[in-house]
Amino acid sequence: MRSKILDLLRQAGDGYVSGEEMAERLGVTRTAVWKHIQELRNSGYEILSHSRNGYSLRESPDSMLASEISHGLGTEIVGRKIQSFGEVDSTNNVAKKLIIKKGPEGNWEDMDGLVVVAESQTGGRGRLERSFFSPAGKGIWFSLVLAPPFAPHEAPKCTLMAAVAVTEAMREFGLKPGIKWPNDIVFGGRKLVGILTEASCDIDRIKHIVLGIGINANMEIKDFPEEIQQTATSMSIIKGEDIPRVKFLQAVLRSLEHWYKVAMEEGFGPVFEAWRKYSVTMGQEVRVIGVRGGEEFTGRAVDIDSYGALLVETDEGVRTVMAGDVSIRPKS
Ligand code: BTN
Repeated sequence: MRSKILDLLRQAGDGYVSGEEMAERLGVTRTAVWKHIQELRNSGYEILSHSRNGYSLRESPDSMLASEISHGLGTEIVGRKIQSFGEVDSTNNVAKKLIIKKGPEGNWEDMDGLVVVAESQTGGRGRLERSFFSPAGKGIWFSLVLAPPFAPHEAPKCTLMAAVAVTEAMREFGLKPGIKWPNDIVFGGRKLVGILTEASCDIDRIKHIVLGIGINANMEIKDFPEEIQQTATSMSIIKGEDIPRVKFLQAVLRSLEHWYKVAMEEGFGPVFEAWRKYSVTMGQEVRVIGVRGGEEFTGRAVDIDSYGALLVETDEGVRTVMAGDVSIRPKS
């Protein structure tokens, strides 16, 4: 109902629409309309009211609200459905719960493109079982559910796809970050974006993928916990001004849709090509720490293979890194 009321207010542009007209068109009472208007005001919409003319929308909040994100989004798949929340533990957890609700024989295609977004996360999760700092009002924390017709081994490639999509959205906003293998987006050696991909597969195909993306939008360095103040950054720090979060998220969703369609129609070749172009890892001396206490070694990152794994040239030959922690070693 709230989004229908917003639609009517937006149609009126700078003008007014009466409570009576809205009530009639939506099949509810004028009191119900008034209550919804109050709720919209409480969530940050500036709506004028005039005793004779009715209501007029003056200002929309830059909040992670489904109604704001869908307005003018213009995508076909990504963001077909958007669910927004104030505070959650983790948008990936919420997305997975929504998937589980569908049951074992669920219609996964129906979930394709679902976006779960929250203003803040109390238990934001990162790769390698790390936590991810996600405070209210300053960042963009969301999960995109995909139900692609891909084989299970293509799930990691979707992570690279997401990194390319977010990088390109940033370029539209005048930022030129790089991608650190596999999927951190960095600027000047500091982390701007983290991506956590979780997948559930049958033996021969992916059932669904949850792409969890955390973007440091409008934090100052002092907003970050001390232990990451030397390694994190935000878009506003780089640009010197706040980023409109809703507009930026829309750009990210459009870019994700573009690359998702490319992957479905042409395969991951073009995704890899773009990933290599934006990579800051290629050609660098790196230290690799294997997952779960795995072996540690150094070498030069030379390429990614057809699975998206990192190829590292060492004294013993080229090694393939499927997962792990890769840090770029400063040049001496
Ligand atoms: C990483 O840096 O290792 C990945 C971080 C991924 C964070 C995002 S924020 C939205 C989604 N929900 C989570 O709990 N994690 C991802």
